[in-house]
Amino acid sequence: MTERTVVLVKPDGFAKKVVGQVIDRFERAGLNVVALKMVRLTPKLLDVWYVHHKDKPFFLSLVADMMATPVVAMVLEGEGAIQIVFDICGPTDPAQAPAGTIRKDFGESKPKNVVHRSDSAEAAEKEIGLLFKPEELFLGESRGF
Ligand code: CMP
Repeated sequence: MTERTVVLVKPDGFAKKVVGQVIDRFERAGLNVVALKMVRLTPKLLDVWYVHHKDKPFFLSLVADMMATPVVAMVLEGEGAIQIVFDICGPTDPAQAPAGTIRKDFGESKPKNVVHRSDSAEAAEKEIGLLFKPEELFLGESRGF
C-alpha cells in the first residue's frame, strides 16, 4: 500500500550537517520526497505534536531541544513507507539501533537521535496537517513525471 510519512531532521542532525545524507538514505530506498522545507517549531505546535509525551519527565527538555535550531521537515511517500522509514531510522535509542541505521550512525542519545519519524499512518496524517499546507505536497501525478 502506498503510504506517506513525516520525517524531521532534528536540531542535532541539522547541527551535524547530515541533512543530505539523511535524505539520500530514504531516496536510495526508493521513497519519493513529496514535500520538503525548513521550519522553526513553536511551543504551540510541539504541544500538539508531542501531546502523547506531555506527562513524561523529558517533555520540557524535548520541546526545548526541538526549538534549538530550525528543523528540516519532509513527507516521504512509497509502498510500505512507514515500515521502511522505521527500519532506516532505527529505534529511538541510538545505543539500541542496528549498525547502518541513521540513529546508530549519527545519533548520540535518546534526545539527540537525529530524526523524528511518524509512528503510524494516523500520526503521519496528523503531522502533515500540522506542518504542511495542501499546496506544499507534491503527490503522485502532481510530481510531473
Ligand atoms: P521522537 O521520535 O521525536 O519522539 C519523542 C522524542 O523524545 C524521541 O524521539 C526522543 O528524541 C525524545 N526523548 C528525549 N528523552 C527521551 C527519553 N528519556 N526516552 C524516550 N525519548 C526521549
